[in-house]
Amino acid sequence: MRKPIMAGNWKMYKTPTEAEDFVKALAPQVKDVQDKVILLCAPATALQKLSEAAVGTNIFIGGENLFWEDEGAFTGEISAPMLKAVGCSYVIIGHSERRQYFGETDETVNKKLKAAIKHNLNAIVCVGETLVQREANETFKVIEKQIKDGLSGLATRDWGLVTIAYEPVWAIGTGKTASPEQAQDVHAHIRKLLPKEIGNDVRILYGGSVKPENVKELMAKPDIDGGLVGGAALKVESFVKLIKY
Ligand code: PGA
Repeated sequence: MRKPIMAGNWKMYKTPTEAEDFVKALAPQVKDVQDKVILLCAPATALQKLSEAAVGTNIFIGGENLFWEDEGAFTGEISAPMLKAVGCSYVIIGHSERRQYFGETDETVNKKLKAAIKHNLNAIVCVGETLVQREANETFKVIEKQIKDGLSGLATRDWGLVTIAYEPVWAIGTGKTASPEQAQDVHAHIRKLLPKEIGNDVRILYGGSVKPENVKELMAKPDIDGGLVGGAALKVESFVKLIKY
């Protein structure tokens, strides 16, 4: 069975102190939750404090990006061993904002994914089409390329560390959610693209304006295994509602 993940993606929000306060308020409210993985992905500067605050709770911590080398002259970058050293067990790779503003491609996604796997970090690899691509009926074609190139060259055992997030770019931060049917269509298609022997075990999260009002109908779909949540994960109250939908 695929245990659902409810993941917050804080993007460029929250100082270390704000992150710590968030976990202190969140932890007692979700301490009995066993049927989902609870994950907070935060800016690098907040990770240390965040994971210290999460010790002894059922909250996992993740980075929002990584570089594929372990160390070296790469000013401004952060590696998989560095994320692990501050208590991360997950990392987001290839978010559409990174593709759009920071030049990430399926090739860099693939290098980052392999670096995460090498260091035993769970990777959440993001894919998704733009509005122009959806309107041109290219959604499946775009996703197919992102999956084929971004997730190429993995051994069967590597897939245990892989989660995919389908995030239609037109639904991120816009208040426009894909309908549960639209999301399910793409999720089922993604699952068909995965190697047969692991396809049913890989979690596929939906992201893009997930909120307490729509989480239940999204999660009711058979191939939606959780959410990658931006805006609604910034407040404890709404994140709790998402976890306990
Ligand atoms: P949103 O962001 O929930 O604010 O739409 C989702 C994401 O970008 O991961």
